[in-house]
Amino acid sequence: MPAQTMEQLVSLCKRRGFLFAGSEIYGGLQGTFDYGPLGVELKNNLKRLWWKHNVYERDDMEGIDAAILMNRYVWRYSGHEATFVDPLVDCKTCKGRFRADKLGEATCLKYPKKHPGECDGELTEPRDFNMMFKTGVGPIADDDSFAYLRPETAQGIFVNFKNVLDSTNRKLPFGIAQIGKAFRNEITPRNFIFRVREFEQMEIEYFVLPGEDEAVHDTFIEDHVNFWVEEAGLRRDNLKLYEVPKEELAHYSKRTVDIMYKFPIGWEELEGIANRTDFDLGSHSREQDKLGLTASVMENEHSTEKLTYFDHAQNRHLVPYVIEPSAGVDRGVLAVLTEAYDEEFLPNGEVRTVLRLKPSLAPVKVAVLPLKKNADEIVAVAKGIKASLQASGEMRAVYDDSAGIGKLYRRQDEIGTPFCVTVDFDTLGRGDDTALKDTVTVRDRDTMQQERIPIAELAGYVRQRIG
Ligand code: GAP
Repeated sequence: MPAQTMEQLVSLCKRRGFLFAGSEIYGGLQGTFDYGPLGVELKNNLKRLWWKHNVYERDDMEGIDAAILMNRYVWRYSGHEATFVDPLVDCKTCKGRFRADKLGEATCLKYPKKHPGECDGELTEPRDFNMMFKTGVGPIADDDSFAYLRPETAQGIFVNFKNVLDSTNRKLPFGIAQIGKAFRNEITPRNFIFRVREFEQMEIEYFVLPGEDEAVHDTFIEDHVNFWVEEAGLRRDNLKLYEVPKEELAHYSKRTVDIMYKFPIGWEELEGIANRTDFDLGSHSREQDKLGLTASVMENEHSTEKLTYFDHAQNRHLVPYVIEPSAGVDRGVLAVLTEAYDEEFLPNGEVRTVLRLKPSLAPVKVAVLPLKKNADEIVAVAKGIKASLQASGEMRAVYDDSAGIGKLYRRQDEIGTPFCVTVDFDTLGRGDDTALKDTVTVRDRDTMQQERIPIAELAGYVRQRIG
């Protein structure tokens, strides 16, 4: 059964070093989290699987890694300066500031058991709050140095459309993928890593001929649901599609379908897949005026480029349409943790906490454990096995002798290690059955079944099962 409460995950993540509150020793910084030793492995594994699925296993995809700091006019012409806003209300009594459309998620600062508006405090009328973080580039703080931290990675792809097209000679349809940080000054960051102010996105901008967009959109929706099920290990029953109503669509979107996951806080968006039409490429193109801005801005405030594509079949330049699958890495990590978390009741009455992660996502693939930590020969063989698994460069292996074998198994179960290898006197040829010399016990995390494997076959055995 997946995690039922966010507290179960928060507690495991802190205890075992997946995630820590950001800047904790200075009282924290709301809406930021630091990934610990296991968290960074899990997150990197998820990003690697996504990149493999979307870039390496396709013939029509390129990757980029664009700068986080971008010219401020990118964000004017993308429409974010004017429209990337959430409705903000203030409580006149407790002075709290809340997102007007998420009052049910917020708590009154004076009466924490109540939601804002349910207490005696009067709320102001909602007003628009722009969520982009502002910063300055260079030593002089003036209009020219003003910049935003990017609130989506997508614009780094759009402004490089021509560069990628010209340097790769791609023909439509093709896509550009990117994984990177994004920043949003969320009014109420909430629910662990679900809504934070600094996060990562895995985005694709897929360029198609106008008219081919709708079919490609449907294909990506199906393909990305399959990614979450087959690669990330989420149960199909815990995913559903949400057709975003017209009145809720972002300013650039003709149609958006969200992939929703059943988080411990309920059904929430994991990934959005939008048909961005020709909005962004058009808006960033010289002589186009999607936002009606040219009349009010200076000549040098607009892009110098036309982000078009020459279609030989039609013998004309056109602005491609764009399908955009956009997933949050941190929400992906949260979904994967939710799905994998299990508390199993054992026949002896104990509760075993186990993270049933797909082996390809597990931070540690194999733990090598000596049955007796005081037996020098056992320790030496165990350390040698760990070193040789590690030297293969194919898997993260750890050695641990800091507790009894039962406790060591539980620790590895809790962090999702698919295999534990135990070295004992049989391995040395000093047990009852001398035929077991040079073999080890391999314990499976999920079934707790144990198998005896020759040391010489161990790396192959694990490699075959970790994907
Ligand atoms: N480029 C399109 C775009 O950014 P979005 O729906 O605003 O669309 C895409 O964001 C994904 O980014 C979301 O589905 C979610 O997974 C993730 N995301 C957005 N805001 C987030 C936040 N404050 N904290 C964590 N993840 C967030």
